[in-house]
This record gives sequence, C-alpha cells and structure tokens, in this order.
Amino acid sequence: MEKKAYTVTAALPYANGPLHLGHVAGVYLPADIFVRFLKLNGHDVAFICGSDEHGAAITLRAKKEGIKPQEIVDKYHRIIKDSFETFQISFDIFHRTSSPLHHQVASDFFKKLHDKDTFKEERSLQYYDNDYEQFLADRYITGTCPKCQYENAYGDQCEKCGADLSPNELINPISTLSGKTPQLKETAHWYLPMNEHEDWLREWIQKGSIDGKLLHDPKTWKNQVIGQCMSWINGGLRARAMTRDLDWGIPVPLPNSEGKVLYVWLDAPIGYISATQQWALDNGKNWKDYWCKEEAKDRKLVHFIGKDNIVFHAIIFPILLKAHGDFILPENVPAYEFLNLEGDKFSTSRNWAVWLHEYLENYPTKVDELKYVLTSIAPENKDSEFTWIDFQTRINSELADIYGNFVNRVTVLIHKYYKGVIPSAHELTTYDQKVLDEIATIPGKISDLLYQYKIREAQQEMMNLARIGNKYLADEEPWKVIKSDPLRVETILNVALQITEQLALCSRVFLPKTADLLLQMLRIESSTWDNKLPMISGGNTIGTSTILFEKITDEWVEQEKSKLITSPTTNSNYPIMKELISFEDFTKMDLRIGHVIAADKMENADKLLVLKVDTGIDERTIVSGIAKHYDTAAILGKKVVVLMNLAPRKIRGVESHGMLLMAENSDGELSALISEKDFGAGPMIS
Ligand code: 2FM
Ligand code: ZN
Repeated sequence: MEKKAYTVTAALPYANGPLHLGHVAGVYLPADIFVRFLKLNGHDVAFICGSDEHGAAITLRAKKEGIKPQEIVDKYHRIIKDSFETFQISFDIFHRTSSPLHHQVASDFFKKLHDKDTFKEERSLQYYDNDYEQFLADRYITGTCPKCQYENAYGDQCEKCGADLSPNELINPISTLSGKTPQLKETAHWYLPMNEHEDWLREWIQKGSIDGKLLHDPKTWKNQVIGQCMSWINGGLRARAMTRDLDWGIPVPLPNSEGKVLYVWLDAPIGYISATQQWALDNGKNWKDYWCKEEAKDRKLVHFIGKDNIVFHAIIFPILLKAHGDFILPENVPAYEFLNLEGDKFSTSRNWAVWLHEYLENYPTKVDELKYVLTSIAPENKDSEFTWIDFQTRINSELADIYGNFVNRVTVLIHKYYKGVIPSAHELTTYDQKVLDEIATIPGKISDLLYQYKIREAQQEMMNLARIGNKYLADEEPWKVIKSDPLRVETILNVALQITEQLALCSRVFLPKTADLLLQMLRIESSTWDNKLPMISGGNTIGTSTILFEKITDEWVEQEKSKLITSPTTNSNYPIMKELISFEDFTKMDLRIGHVIAADKMENADKLLVLKVDTGIDERTIVSGIAKHYDTAAILGKKVVVLMNLAPRKIRGVESHGMLLMAENSDGELSALISEKDFGAGPMIS
C-alpha cells in the first residue's frame, strides 16, 4: 500500500532577530527529526519554512536599530537561513514573506475571501499616537492585562496568561512608540467573524470531523492543544481584524484602502502555501498536490509550532483555509512548550539567550552534540530547561561514554584483531540471538514513537542500542576470550558490529552528521528506514575508527555561563531603548553647562523660545521647543546642560547653535537638566 504523503510546516520565524536555542528545541529540531524519519520511511514529504517578514515585530525592531524594515528582514533572513543550513535543518525550501510571489498569493487569498463575503468591514475607534501619527495595534501598544493584571501585556495578547486581547481592553494603555497615553481615532478594517465558526470548529477539534466526515483522529493531538482551543472556543470567539493601518506589509488589495496592509497573522501562514509554490516551481512539481482538496486529498498537513502559536494554527488559519474552500485542513498541530535557560525564560530583549549562530560559529563541529542535548530536553509536554552543566553531563556521560565508547571499542578491536576485516559469525549463543532479536525491534519502536511525535523517547531508543552494545561487550569480554577461544571472538565482534550498524542507521534522524560518518566507516548505503541486518557481511573491511564525541571541559561550561549577562528589563511606560552606542560615539558629544542670559518667545510659534546662552566659551543663540513647560521668566538665569556641537539649524529663520538637554516623563512634561553645584558657565560634562 502506498504510504501517506505529508506537507510539514515549521513556524515561520520573525526576521527580527537571530534564532536562539529555545526556538530550535521547541519547533525546528522536532520537525526536522520527524521529516527525516518520514522521508527515510518512504513517505512523500514537502518540508516548508521561511522568514516571517511583516508585522510590528519587524517595524519595531527596525525603529530600534534605526534602519528600514527591508534592511532588518534582509539582515536577519540571511542570519537565520545560514544557521538552519549549518545546523542541518533539512527544509525543502526556506522562503520569505517579502517575496513578490508571496505578496501575490496572500493578496489573491484575501481577495477571494473578501469576494466570498468572509469578512465584515467595520469602522471603530482605535488608539492612535499623535506624535508618530500612527494607529496602535498588536505590539505597538502595551498596558495592564484585564484578566491577570500583568502590566506589560501587548495589544493582541498577554504573554503572562495567554489571553487574547484587543488594544481597547488594556488598562492604562501606553504607546510603545512615544511612551505616551494614546488617543482614540476612527478607522475602518475588515474583520473575520470568528464567532460564526464556533460550531464546526468545536466538532473538528473534539471529534476530528466536519459535518460527520472524519478528517483526523483527535486522539493523536496533544492534550494541551485541544485544551487551549476548547478554552478559547468555550470562552466565545470574537471578530478579529484581518487588516492593519501600517506602511509595512502586504497592501490590502481593495479600492480605498490606502495605508492599510494585511494582518501579519493572515499573511504569515499563507507563507506556507507560497513557499510550497516557489519550491514546486523550482523542482518541477505541482504545488496543488501538497495543499488542495482535490489533488492532496490523501495528504497529511502538519504544522510544527510553539505553544504561543496554537490559536493561529488551530483556529484562525483553519477558518481561513475552510472559508477559502480549496484547501485541506491540518491533520495535526504538534505544539511545543517553552525551553528555559539557566533558570529564566529565554528573552531576546533582555539578551538572555544562547544564540544558534554564535554557537555554530564557536563550535562548528559540535552540531550533533547540540541536537542530542536539545532533543533529550525537548519541551514536549511541559516547559523544560537548558543549562550548560546539563549540556556537559549529557555529552560526556551519554554521548561520549555510552555511544562513542561502544563504537570505539568495536571498531578498535576489529582493527586490532582482524586489521579491519569484519569477522564472520559462527554458532550463535542464546544471548547472541536475544541481542540480535532485540536490536531488530528498535527501528519499529522508534517509528511508533515518532508517528506520535514523541521524539525524546524515540532518541532514547536509539541510545538503548549503544547501551545494549556496551552491556554485550562487558558480558562477553572479547579482550579476555581472545586468548582462550579466538573463534568465539569472531562471533562476538560480528554481533557487536551488527549493533553498530543498527545504531548508525537509527542515528540518521537524530544525529545526521554522526550517522554519515559511521555509515561511511561501515561502508553501508541505505536510503530506507527498515533494514535487515547484517547490512555488510564478514570479509568486508571497515574504515579507520575515530573519536566520535569529545568531552566537554569544565572551562567550556564556565566560559559559556559567563557569557550570559542580561540587559535590564525595559519599562513599557517609556519608549523602547535605542541601539547601544560605543564609548567613542558618546565622546563625540560636547556637553557643557550654560547660563541662560536672555529668553524671548518666538513669534507665531507657541512651542519655541529663543534663548541666549553663555556657555563659558561663547554666547550663542539656541532655539528651544520648551515654551509649553518654561516661560521666559522661569528659564532666565538657569544653569542648563547644552549640547554644543550639534550642527547649526535654522528654525523659523533664526539660526540655532546647539540644544538644551531636557528630561521628559511619560506624560510628556519637560524638565531642564540643571547642575547641582554652581560651577559657573563652561564646565564640560564627562
Ligand atoms: O511566533 C512567531 O515567531 C511567528 N513568526 C510564527 C509565524 S508561523 C506562521 F504562521 F507563519
Ligand atoms: Zn494576562
């Protein structure tokens, strides 16, 4: 019988920063292991991913780095793509949502839904930042969560309690652009009335069927995925805007919609479809075979994601796919919990992370070691933790002492006793037969576990092969028997080599580099999962043995731990911190104490004062926008901090030489920075 075909997707990472180990352990590595296994087991698979390049995640990062959104996505797309390649994550394509093809596909998708009256157009009052002239949705606005009182909830979601929020529900809303309280202003958007889809979603998620037709077995879904979806649905789904007022994204393809783009969570999952289209174009395939109801009716669509993406993949995207009408729905949405780092959450903003690209730059030969550790601690059913000490222990006492040691003993002995020529097996003992029978069952066990997305246990089964092997050698002691019964040793080492073969074959999904090395050494070629042993018979020669895994030193652990330094937590009542500058940048500023010796109002400008400031080295004119906070009498005679070497500018016809430094609070009030001691005018600030 032909095996089921699969379209497997892994959540498109935002191209707003590099990947850290939390991303890898909780999405990409499990997906890669699953896909490597499926392909070896004869399934037709397309493995799809790419960069998520729209939305506030990108524009806010661009603002922070002081560069354009396009530059941000180009920079991080490259870094992320390179890391995936070096880490051997075997996507068939790693595409990007800023590509023209994706824009076209997403635009057509939206248009089709619009033409089918899937959306409702509505005008409403939304928060607006007057300083930045921008509406504030999603991450552009923070405030206190009405459900759990967490103070830094975003406009779309509370990261503490997971609640789905809209900006209007936030208590004490604050713009993340200006740090100020925003105003309400009217705007129009296209909404997806999710409430109208509750009935079929309920049946689909709980029973796996729609209108009584079975589509998947709900018992194969993780409990937490079903639980989270049902709690959303039972809490009542609400209409969600599918468009945004932003200048970065895919323009809404409708008349009179200038300045509006598609909601990033509409456009990103469509990225799986457009990426498949690009891959199909590049490889002479028909993309519809991977996505469409007719052509892909026997195909399983599987979305690997982190738990924060459950609602988007198990509720919103299925609504969109079903409403469109042409597409299959996901057969499963394996969602992973979070990986923590040394007792704290991974955090890009606080720089509490181990970055994948940095690890790979520092330790390019230690790819499989990291894969092994991350799979051992994969956050399958609950959050888990990465520590450098645990990394060291797992590599030293598992990979090196168990796996590496077994392979090394077998290959060294075969070289020592037989110059690398594999000895033949003679009469088998009951124990030999028991061991051979046991190792023959392991590919099947791994296969059963992987079909259930249990990668931790599956990898354990691979390690069991090495454990069985070590025990077999310890029990049979060929190094002792060689003196009394050399013929028996031929059988022992033949059996041990068969264990090594099975270990190499099963390692292909978890430790691909190591498997390649071993298979090459054993001179085995196989592209299938189930293989009858022995693959190579007595008389053939094996390659030279190498140390597979070096031990991790205490110095390594200390060095890596010392690199973990957090940046302070940011308070969302204030604008986000600007990019770090060097000390040299700072010393470029000439800051001095000046004495305000004259102050006049600027004509026809209610914010500006024209000041004469004695700076100790000159008397200069400075135009300052402080009139709403200081009248002329209040600023006259004050000692203030002046930025001296700001390039002169003409403001309303008056040439301004420098700038007064002021502090601004979250209500926008200004206060001059005034020297505590009276140094007179002129001292430099350093
Ligand atoms: O949470 C995230 O990182 C999103 N960029 C995931 C998007 S998955 C898909 F919908 F594209
Ligand atoms: Zn909350």
